[in-house]
Amino acid sequence: MHTLPQREPVLRVVPMPADVNQHGDIFGGWIMSHVDVAGGVLAARRARGRVATVAVNSFTFKQPVLVGDLVTFYGEIARVGTTSVTIAVEVYAQRNPRDIVTVRVTEASLTYVAVGADGRPRPLPPE
Ligand SMILES: CC(C)(COP(=O)(O)OP(=O)(O)OC[C@H]1O[C@@H](n2cnc3c(N)ncnc32)[C@H](O)[C@@H]1OP(=O)(O)O)[C@@H](O)C(=O)NCCC(=O)NCCS
Repeated sequence: MHTLPQREPVLRVVPMPADVNQHGDIFGGWIMSHVDVAGGVLAARRARGRVATVAVNSFTFKQPVLVGDLVTFYGEIARVGTTSVTIAVEVYAQRNPRDIVTVRVTEASLTYVAVGADGRPRPLPPE
């Protein structure tokens, strides 16, 4: 069984019945949108401003997410380019409140580009 990483999560959220697919598990698109939000938070901090998602490099659903799970999103900077930053996101689900079970459900890599007010790429500021 997994335990949560000992670092600050970017996002924690509980999916609702409206978020399920026809089989009763949480719809993959719900997870993808939250992963994009979580990665975007870290990218915007590094860029100190607006970013746009330019690519989803990889996305792996390792285990299903269930209605009522507490879903926690962690992220870290994996690569910094000239205008782009790549964020690795890990997602864990916790269920069964009487005897908590923690499952690593998703891992993904997304690239964000720092953009100016005109929507065009701008160089990342120094750290
Ligand atoms: C993001 C955007 C501004 C980039 O403009 P662009 O002219 O394509 O940018 P460039 O070719 O100059 O590349 C900018 C950076 O993105 C990186 N990049 C571009 N395509 C990439 C890809 N497929 N995968 C990974 N990185 C990519 C480049 O390597 C470059 O990084 P670097 O400066 O760190 O070396 C533009 O593509 C855009 O507006 N896309 C839509 C964004 C959006 O709406 N996202 C929400 C999804 S609905």
